[in-house]
Amino acid sequence: MMSGKEEQYRLLLKQLDSLLSGESDKTAMMANTAAMIHETFGFWWTGFYRVVDDELVLGPFQGPVACMHIGYGKGVCGTAWKERRTVVVPDVEQFPGHIACSSESRSEIVVPVIQKGAVVAVLDIDSRELNTFDDTDAEWLEKIVTLLPSMPSPEKEIWLAAGCFWGAEKYLKLIEGVTFTEVGFANGNTENPTYNEVYTDQTGYAETVHLRYNPAVVSLRFLLDMYFKAIDPTSLNKQGEDEGTRYRTGIYYSDPADRAVIDAAVAEEARKYGLPLQVEVEPLRNFYRAEEYHQDYLDKNPSGYCHLPVALFELARNAREQ
Ligand code: SME
Repeated sequence: MMSGKEEQYRLLLKQLDSLLSGESDKTAMMANTAAMIHETFGFWWTGFYRVVDDELVLGPFQGPVACMHIGYGKGVCGTAWKERRTVVVPDVEQFPGHIACSSESRSEIVVPVIQKGAVVAVLDIDSRELNTFDDTDAEWLEKIVTLLPSMPSPEKEIWLAAGCFWGAEKYLKLIEGVTFTEVGFANGNTENPTYNEVYTDQTGYAETVHLRYNPAVVSLRFLLDMYFKAIDPTSLNKQGEDEGTRYRTGIYYSDPADRAVIDAAVAEEARKYGLPLQVEVEPLRNFYRAEEYHQDYLDKNPSGYCHLPVALFELARNAREQ
């Protein structure tokens, strides 16, 4: 049986769905979404912050005057953005770094609005009581934010092949400004390849990490400089002990404007070695996500195989673009 709260959310979702259908103005939709949630539950503060370049900026809300700018990773809102997950805070005083826009707020929930893999905004709700929010709120509010229209995202993407993708993903995702990673197979010749097929080395695919990043936090050039620290760019089809075309190095892009940045980075790297590099640079032709088992492999299997030295992870963790 549905709890009273679930029943309220179920109705709210239905009402919002019909209220918003046919509307396309982003501000109007966010404003009425905040208002309806606020009215239904009588919360203290309900509203949106939008991702604008490298920070969150206050959007439509209901409730008292609030902070207008929140940094990436700061407060509950910036944490939900950075970690791309709903954050439930039973007691704001226990949350390190909580930003108190209002001294009356006691508990809080922040739900990221994720569109095409990128966080474009967060929905923030504050309560004057402790322990107001739980998994039920998280679940329903996550449904509610899917009703919002598509919003601009500053995020960009790039696909990097760096040998075995287990270590490459762990390394690249530690770099500040990288907002999302997944591992898969790029620029091959078959449909829906499996890991075992790619492993035969007959499919033309390269083990590749797909990255999204916020260019206001980290530039493509900086990412490529970090990438070069984790590969031997002069080695053809071999990184560490891993050999085969599937372990080739490659930089694959979807935005043609990235080509000049990539060419400049590759040329500078080639000068360091005094040799032509073996790094393939091509537009992305195709990419298939690998089986779940391979995603975040080294987090799931901390003592699993990795061709990269541990010191590199420390380097990535501390790397900051000037
Ligand atoms: N408490 C939030 C700041 C926004 S206000 O609650 C409206 C935070 O820590 O991110």
